[in-house]
Amino acid sequence: MGETSGSEPDAVVFGATGFIGRWTVLRLLEQGRTVAAVIREPTRDRPDAGAQAARGRTGASVPATPGRTDAGGGGELPAWLQGHGADVERLMVVAGDLTGGPGLGLSAVDDERLAGVRDVVNAAAVYRFGLGREEARTVNVEGALNVLRWAATRPGLRRLIHVSGYRVGLGPRERYPLPEAELAELYRGQGAYEGSKTEADAAVRVVAEQLGVPLTVVNPSTVIGHSTTGEAGQYIGLAEVVRDLWNGRLPALPGTARTFVPVETVDHFASYMAAIPEHDPKPGGLHWVLDENTPNLPELVRLLAAHLGVRAPKTLVPVSLIRRLPAALTGANPETLAFLTEDRYDTASAERVAEAAGLRQPPVETALRRWADRLVADRFGTAPAVLPGGFHDVGGSRTYVAGDRTSPGFVLLHGLPLDGESWQGVLGELDGAPALVADLPGLGRSAPTSATPLAWLTDLLAPVRTRPVIVAHSAAAAPALRYAAAHPERISALVLVSPYFLQEAAPRPLRTPALATPLLKRISADRLATSLLGDGTSSDEARRAVASAAAQLHRPGVARRTARLLRDANQPAERAALQALLSETVSVPVHLLAGQLDPLVADPGPATVTTIPGTGHHPHLTHPAAIASIMRRADGAPG
Ligand SMILES: NC(=O)c1ccc[n+]([C@@H]2O[C@H](COP(=O)([O-])OP(=O)(O)OC[C@H]3O[C@@H](n4cnc5c(N)ncnc54)[C@H](OP(=O)(O)O)[C@@H]3O)[C@@H](O)[C@H]2O)c1
Repeated sequence: MGETSGSEPDAVVFGATGFIGRWTVLRLLEQGRTVAAVIREPTRDRPDAGAQAARGRTGASVPATPGRTDAGGGGELPAWLQGHGADVERLMVVAGDLTGGPGLGLSAVDDERLAGVRDVVNAAAVYRFGLGREEARTVNVEGALNVLRWAATRPGLRRLIHVSGYRVGLGPRERYPLPEAELAELYRGQGAYEGSKTEADAAVRVVAEQLGVPLTVVNPSTVIGHSTTGEAGQYIGLAEVVRDLWNGRLPALPGTARTFVPVETVDHFASYMAAIPEHDPKPGGLHWVLDENTPNLPELVRLLAAHLGVRAPKTLVPVSLIRRLPAALTGANPETLAFLTEDRYDTASAERVAEAAGLRQPPVETALRRWADRLVADRFGTAPAVLPGGFHDVGGSRTYVAGDRTSPGFVLLHGLPLDGESWQGVLGELDGAPALVADLPGLGRSAPTSATPLAWLTDLLAPVRTRPVIVAHSAAAAPALRYAAAHPERISALVLVSPYFLQEAAPRPLRTPALATPLLKRISADRLATSLLGDGTSSDEARRAVASAAAQLHRPGVARRTARLLRDANQPAERAALQALLSETVSVPVHLLAGQLDPLVADPGPATVTTIPGTGHHPHLTHPAAIASIMRRADGAPG
């Protein structure tokens, strides 16, 4: 496309803060379009930036009611777009609300500035299950009609694109309005979300015809993360199935061997949306946009289970049976069951547009794996990863690895009962120095293996072409030391943070799996934080790290394996073996770090020792800057 209509927007996107909306805005900007993003709260997340931007433009403070901000405001959307390489100079952020009547709550000034828009995208909706009927209708039906009526007032309108859903609009003929009895039946049968999408689909098509609005309806299936980064933004539906699979809470799968829940990557879908005005010249289209090569649901779940290193359910339960059982028993949300069918969809018209635009579906199995990686990395939307990782085969373990796998300056190995997220604070202090972070096998997010920890570490480091510093916390000191002894030529130094084998042994209950396993399995993030960090204040990073560890401990087997390792690592023979290795065998420089409250009690041999005041066994959580400084020195840089 590459053309703009002067400085004023020629495309407008409603729902621009949403998952589909933001990727569509990004794609339109990449095409060189000038885009208005209509969002409800332009100053959300960054009120000061929004207020300043509005003041600079209008000489007034940012209005509490809808009004104009520019790309400097708009909450976090402009920052997200910039972070994804967009030029936000051609972005205008406008306050508006689908529930604001046919004027959409736009100020008169904004409405005027949007007079010349040619393409209107409606990706706004309330997308949730468990909604009330009116709550869903107000935005998804009435709001969609408001967008339609507003679009009808744009003199140069080329296309209105309405995002529907792949299970709606399948009927023979759309009707709107429906008599109340039919409407009640629709909402009862489908639930409020899907009912409202079905009603809206008919409503916009009927009213568009009445008003002569050039409408295209797109019906996406489940939209998954970006095809290369896996980045997601929506965590309901199929993402919840992946979450349950990951957490060991998917004992059986609803549906049959042929149940088909098609997916569509968000980048392909956004490109498709942005291509419609040019490549689907005739309005009136209904396009089912989905990847027909998506494996059937049981196969899809098996694929992801194998990728994540968890067990796939073997049992299939017919949807009809689940419907008859109480939801409290099955844990199934009745609104999601409607998606579990064997139906296939006619994608021919969508494919014609895609072909004209030169768009191809990315390989679906790879996209699914990358999406699953990112879902786990972001803890299913609850804690965005600082350094997103993914799953790889390492020493027979599906291992969670993040960072630079071939040229790291540092290799960071966590202790117990933590995972790789425990290095978040330290990573933040390293100014982007390349680091490789992995969860030890059987711990955190990594699956167990029968290989020894040393064999696992050797395999992890096999592709590494640099001579990194290995930084190991507590229990990870064992494989790190053994690796250093076996392969001194492959690393430049060892930094052992809280080398447990030189410190007081862990308390006896923690070394007793029968006691430690149930304790760790049920421990809350708050309790774990208190026990690891004390009652004092701790940083957000430290709390996020501990929350990640607690979440993994709740998954099947992780607490048990952690408890066993605590026992085995503390055997006197193992402690003595590591002490001997440290003082007699290891030839690379070794730096030992210990908190003042958990000092070294055994001879450190020739290693350099640094004591960090006012902390205990987890100084990398409490004092990340001090650890990073010593790491840099170990790497030969000034601390
Ligand atoms: N994601 C999927 O897999 C999928 C599949 C099929 C169809 N769809 C459809 O695709 C559309 C977008 O879905 P999504 O996944 O991007 O949803 P989403 O991430 O929840 O985004 C919804 C967007 O709608 C906005 N919105 C909600 N109420 C609004 C109102 N009253 N006025 C203005 N904006 C409002 C939200 O703004 P705030 O940020 O202010 O809340 C947000 O920007 C929906 O129509 C959905 O039904 C999605």
